[in-house]
Amino acid sequence: MTGFGRRDGLLVCDGVPLETLARDHGTPLYVYSGAAIDESFRRFDAAFAAVPHLVCYAAKANSARAILARLARLGAGADVVSGGELRAALAAGISPERIVFSGVGKTDDEIAAGVAAGLLAIHVESVRELEKVSAAAAASGTVARVALRVNPDIDARSHPHISTGLSENKFGVDIARAREVFERSRALPGVRMAGVQAHVGSQIFDEAPLSRTACELATLAVSLAAAGFPIETVDVGGGLGIGDGALTPEAYAAAVLPPLRPLPFRVLVEPGRAIVGRAGVLLTRVLYLKREREKNFVVVDAGMNDFLRPALYGAAHAIEPAGRPSDESVFTDVVGPVCETGDAFLRDAVLPLPREGDVLAIHDAGAYGHVMASNYNFRPRPAEVLVDGGAARVIRRREAHEDLVRLEAE
Ligand SMILES: Cc1ncc(COP(=O)(O)O)c(C=O)c1O
Repeated sequence: MTGFGRRDGLLVCDGVPLETLARDHGTPLYVYSGAAIDESFRRFDAAFAAVPHLVCYAAKANSARAILARLARLGAGADVVSGGELRAALAAGISPERIVFSGVGKTDDEIAAGVAAGLLAIHVESVRELEKVSAAAAASGTVARVALRVNPDIDARSHPHISTGLSENKFGVDIARAREVFERSRALPGVRMAGVQAHVGSQIFDEAPLSRTACELATLAVSLAAAGFPIETVDVGGGLGIGDGALTPEAYAAAVLPPLRPLPFRVLVEPGRAIVGRAGVLLTRVLYLKREREKNFVVVDAGMNDFLRPALYGAAHAIEPAGRPSDESVFTDVVGPVCETGDAFLRDAVLPLPREGDVLAIHDAGAYGHVMASNYNFRPRPAEVLVDGGAARVIRRREAHEDLVRLEAE
């Protein structure tokens, strides 16, 4: 069994009891299954095997170096969205020819770093950015390979905060203007316009927006190639959801590949959540059981600063005891210690009645978990542990108070 499941009544990660990890490393603690990460990457990669392709893992989902390095060894590329992620991906051993650089607000320094690295593609999101990339490349005597991120005005039917392909969203260039932007590039000596890209949202459960995006991109790529542009790649972005009712990687590939398969372009995909989301949990310890005016609260030691998704998006993440579940159940909220009412992981949920000191596992926390953690309420960010071949190792230590004050001055 890879990933998380019960053995002798105890919740384990690749055979290692989570209670043991909480005892050894403290809580809150992120725990990842190396085997589950490998398995989801391989499955995703295999789903696209029918076409020339590259899976550019979206580093924003989880940019821990050990995870990036692991994916690099499996042949992954990366989708990065900042100079920091670019450095992290390169340091983890992902070669520049496998990295695409997205983002609506790249700074001059970030553009220069992308150009200098010689990336597979810089994804430009405006004419002004295109001019800047060209100028940076021309100044250093190179030509940058660029793909245009287009906004196809497609509703991903996901949470509004993570829908990115609607005309009102800040991302990309209106697909109707794509040709005009490509034409503009003919006067720019530092860019080679070799691809198109779109990413319409995240945590998508519905295949319609995904297949429509692929169709729009395919049509656009064909017309641009016919107009003489050296199109090599069509990048359909990421966005595949996880959890109950999620599309499998095979169903996802079946939704996006039909318009692309007959074309002479390499297909790029940028999954983040689908690779690491299910491969991680956040362990937290029960501090108090509280009952006020008929309402129960399980107060745990992880807060919204450690794992933001429930507070930010109202995301529901299953929670279960790491130890043997009690036979009694409780109707309760599970809340953190942060001074915000929004600091809740579950509301009005039925859980096996925990006791003070019990360890709970918050599931599907491998993506957009630690990367979104903050020091709000002056709380140190949690440690991260990777379970690999039955052994656990710390891949990021827990922050200490000294880490938080280190950059301060009087
Ligand atoms: C450009 C781009 N690509 C890929 C992703 C990854 O999305 P997901 O983790 O939902 O697959 C994102 C997420 O925001 C993104 O903005």
